[in-house]
Amino acid sequence: MKKKIAVLEGDGIGPEITREGLKVLKAIEKKYGHEFELEFAPFGAQAYFDEGDPFPQKTKDICDRADAIIKGPVGLAVEEMSRIPQEKRPELGAILPIRKRYNTFLNFRPVRLPKELACLSPIKESIIGDGIDILMIRELVGGIYFGKKTEGSATGMTHSIDECKYTDEEVRQVAHAAFKEARKRNVLLTNVHKSNVLAIGRFWNEVVEDVRKEYEDVEYRSILVDNAAFQLVKNPAQFNGVMLLENMQGDILTDQAGGVLGSLGLMPSACIGTQKGYVEPAHGSAPDIAGKNIANPYSMIGSVAFLLDKCFSLTKEADEIWNALFELLGSGYRTAELKDANTPADKILSTTAFGDKIVEIIEK
Ligand code: IPM
Ligand code: MN
Repeated sequence: MKKKIAVLEGDGIGPEITREGLKVLKAIEKKYGHEFELEFAPFGAQAYFDEGDPFPQKTKDICDRADAIIKGPVGLAVEEMSRIPQEKRPELGAILPIRKRYNTFLNFRPVRLPKELACLSPIKESIIGDGIDILMIRELVGGIYFGKKTEGSATGMTHSIDECKYTDEEVRQVAHAAFKEARKRNVLLTNVHKSNVLAIGRFWNEVVEDVRKEYEDVEYRSILVDNAAFQLVKNPAQFNGVMLLENMQGDILTDQAGGVLGSLGLMPSACIGTQKGYVEPAHGSAPDIAGKNIANPYSMIGSVAFLLDKCFSLTKEADEIWNALFELLGSGYRTAELKDANTPADKILSTTAFGDKIVEIIEK
């Protein structure tokens, strides 16, 4: 297979974890005889400082002509944010625009912890039980994130408004994708919403349950978002299967899921649009540990696996990466944020050593 991939390394730990993701991509390319042509482009806070725009036109052009995009995390430390005007900050000036540009309505965020790795979680091993395997599906281009914003005090007003809107079509397309995924895996689908208070929640629910009529073979459950947050800690494995979430609730619960796993470094993600997709870790740019070669590249390497699977339908190659990731952690290797008092020094891996080990497993 021959494909063009745009690479946006991003800020903070972005470049160093992206490097490891690409190392693994290269190993797959070689082993399976594919040809991946990479084109690098600036994106994020650094792009703003260098080019005056966090998502410059030349980056848009490169992404437009690519078959898929690999994106590192972007952003500055909170106390640095004021160096960039609001609308040019990576969140509003780059991330939301790239999602809109490619209409990436479908965000996959897997939450996987085999029982052998239960020790990574802050939750008791007895609760992790046979392991966690949830695929969180977050709607990514609708809802309050993209609603009309009325800025408050900044514009001299005494109130602010964020409009939250979902159309029938927006809910329907992500619901279909979630039901299809649950059917393919033959697993439970849990629909998350806030229908006891919000009109948008009732509407979301109504549309999802209408779509459900076409998937009667899929086991289905519906849950209020606050209760889902509680249950996700109390007994996460009950959600094994697919969870369907709207944009903002999905943002929050996917970070919470990172906490359940024990690290946001274990949260890869894929953002899939109607024409093309991009992959990115679900976490931020971690400026406090940038450049130290200690960041966990799992989230980026997993994202590369997702790129192969969801953008190019190369499932065998993707599985090979997933297996290598679990094999490595399963043999006791840890990155700095995952180690504990029992981790021997020779099992602690730097960012680059982690990538090298994954490549070794793939090549053996
Ligand atoms: C995420 C991030 C983004 C979001 C931010 C950086 C805009 O938190 O991908 O989860 O809120 O969607
Ligand atoms: Mn988030």
